[in-house]
Amino acid sequence: MLLEVQDLVVHYKIKTGWVHATDGVSIQLDKGETLGLVGESACGKTTLAYGISQLLPSNAYIKGGRVIFDGKNLLKMTMKKDGRLKEYDNELNKIRWKEISMIFQGAMNALNPVQRVGDQIAEAILFHERVTKQQARQRAEQLYNLVGIPVDRIDHFPHEYSGGMKQRAMIAMALALNPKLVIADEPTTALDVITQNKILTKVRELQDRLEMAMIIITHDVSVVAKTAKRIAVMYAGQISETGTTREIFKETAHPYTSGLLGSFPSIKGKVRRLATIKGNPPSLVEPPTGCRFHPRCPYVQDICKTQNPPGLTMSPGHISFCHFAKDLQGKLSPEVFI
Ligand SMILES: Nc1ncnc2c1ncn2[C@@H]1O[C@H](COP(=O)(O)OP(=O)(O)OP(=O)(O)O)[C@@H](O)[C@H]1O
Ligand SMILES: [Mg+2]
Repeated sequence: MLLEVQDLVVHYKIKTGWVHATDGVSIQLDKGETLGLVGESACGKTTLAYGISQLLPSNAYIKGGRVIFDGKNLLKMTMKKDGRLKEYDNELNKIRWKEISMIFQGAMNALNPVQRVGDQIAEAILFHERVTKQQARQRAEQLYNLVGIPVDRIDHFPHEYSGGMKQRAMIAMALALNPKLVIADEPTTALDVITQNKILTKVRELQDRLEMAMIIITHDVSVVAKTAKRIAVMYAGQISETGTTREIFKETAHPYTSGLLGSFPSIKGKVRRLATIKGNPPSLVEPPTGCRFHPRCPYVQDICKTQNPPGLTMSPGHISFCHFAKDLQGKLSPEVFI
């Protein structure tokens, strides 16, 4: 196993209390595997990504859990006694980029505005690997070909790139050191669908060749359907359902998953009205008691309001955190949300 996150709890301290952004999340990833992480805005996806790559901001506290990457306990390396992250850790710096790299949400703002883009990529390679300047430059050019940016743009500055080009440059940077794990946070939102498909296909080829694992975070269920073998659905700081992509789409066992899938148009199926899950995701300062989805769930029962649902195993590896998963599986329909 490459990555094991166990019961990770990350809270942010704010003036009025604590934001329970990630509350007891467990995920696992094998070498070379792709996991899709989906869920509505503000459910804690980016927080989980930062919790894995140890890039949390200074008001974040890790209140519990473990992050084991390639046999190493990352939290032990980076956490102070009070749950905050150390500002700098030598050992962790070696892991970042080289072993775990990240394509940031809003990647376009992550490039240094006063340095030529190609130089930024070459510099990252030179910092971590014993190669000559010329070799680093060659690698940067190969990466440009891979993500489909004309190589003659390599010496331009970020402001001379379009949004989609910047996003592709960040993808190139994340892949530059052949990391064991890439965490891609909304990696293709600024790209048109054709370019998005091309890049996702290329990244997948590269993944197969290099046995690179990937966590792909997205609102767009069609992106995970194309890229991920397994999916974790998040709701209000917790995992609500996890399983293979097929299980999540075809053997859905959580009302939230059903509503989420129903809110996207189907490319192949007949035209239908889209579901909208009524209400808004709850405040994570005072999350609802019991099942966090209960205030919006059309199947709600009394027990849901008070008791946190345990993970029910539907089949090995397919787990639903719904009290009534066994009764509802096969009967769930996004129609109830319309
Ligand atoms: N530095 C911070 N301080 C306080 N609260 C934060 C901080 N960063 C995020 N949050 C809050 O934590 C919760 C989870 O945020 P997060 O960015 O992880 O969500 P997300 O699932 O990535 O959302 P999106 O899909 O919009 O990117 C939100 O309620 C957000 O407002
Ligand atoms: Mg996010």
